[in-house]
Amino acid sequence: MTSWLLEFSDLQYTYPGGQKSVLNGVSFGIPEGKKCVLLGRNGCGKSTLFQHANGILQPRQGEVRWRGKPFVYKRSFLQEMTQKVGLVFQDPEHQLIASTVAEDVSYGLVNRKLPPDTIREKVGKALEAFGMSELAETPIHHLSLGQKRRLALAGVMVLEPELLLLDEPTAYLDRYQTKNLLRELDQIHRSGTTVLMATHDMDIAFEWAEWICVMDGGRLVFAGEPQALLAERQMLESLHLGIPLIAEVWEMLPPSWKREMGEGIPQSLADWKRRLEERKEEVASV
Ligand SMILES: Nc1ncnc2c1ncn2[C@@H]1O[C@H](COP(=O)(O)OP(=O)(O)OP(=O)(O)O)[C@@H](O)[C@H]1O
Ligand SMILES: [Mg+2]
Repeated sequence: MTSWLLEFSDLQYTYPGGQKSVLNGVSFGIPEGKKCVLLGRNGCGKSTLFQHANGILQPRQGEVRWRGKPFVYKRSFLQEMTQKVGLVFQDPEHQLIASTVAEDVSYGLVNRKLPPDTIREKVGKALEAFGMSELAETPIHHLSLGQKRRLALAGVMVLEPELLLLDEPTAYLDRYQTKNLLRELDQIHRSGTTVLMATHDMDIAFEWAEWICVMDGGRLVFAGEPQALLAERQMLESLHLGIPLIAEVWEMLPPSWKREMGEGIPQSLADWKRRLEERKEEVASV
């Protein structure tokens, strides 16, 4: 049975002064230990939902559960949740508060009243892990947007969360930095952190995720493995999410090639290359 690390159950939310309800009964669980993606078009409520995952926002109705235990909207519980659930905001300007890079990474540790030596050590390690050691004393306003995003991630990871939520982490990153980030997220996942990334990039979702949830209009419309999502063509078309490029190319292949290359659409180019290598002779003879 799947063990849900965090569950959203029938959440409803309207912003103060807002006319319309933004979350309209969204329910789903985040499976522990998996690389997950939350897909959904602009304005469907992804960022609003994320802010319910560590208690920044409280639902008007419904509940959020951590390992089966409902959230309690009290200071001590929420403090614990902000450590367990690390949230990297869509806009790093909402996250970075200190004046230099090192100060910013140390912020959460100082708040937790850790000894100065421990803080120094953890900050040093985090900056090294994210390739930012040389920028330690750099003022935050001198950083590029890509660097600010890395810093925001470093500041969250230094607190060693069990669940990492990233809101559109690849937006504005160039191709090289996107690949780098996905590799880093793989590393974070391998070291035992469950990861959930919000995006509307179908190609990234299909290649990277082990589990995909799709939201629309403040509700869940799909949860399952990437290959199962591809069977939901009508839904993907109607939500304008499209299908992954790799799937479009795959579908243009003659059926005999597809048969020789094995069942199912390759999840990535690397997967495609591996299959070609393994079946070089069979494919050549088709
Ligand atoms: N602070 C706010 N006050 C009032 N309404 C808000 C606020 N933040 C978001 N909304 C509204 O809530 C809805 C959902 O927004 P949200 O940012 O959660 O969507 P999203 O799925 O993250 O979109 P995107 O892909 O563009 O980031 C939108 O209609 C938006 O206008
Ligand atoms: Mg958003």
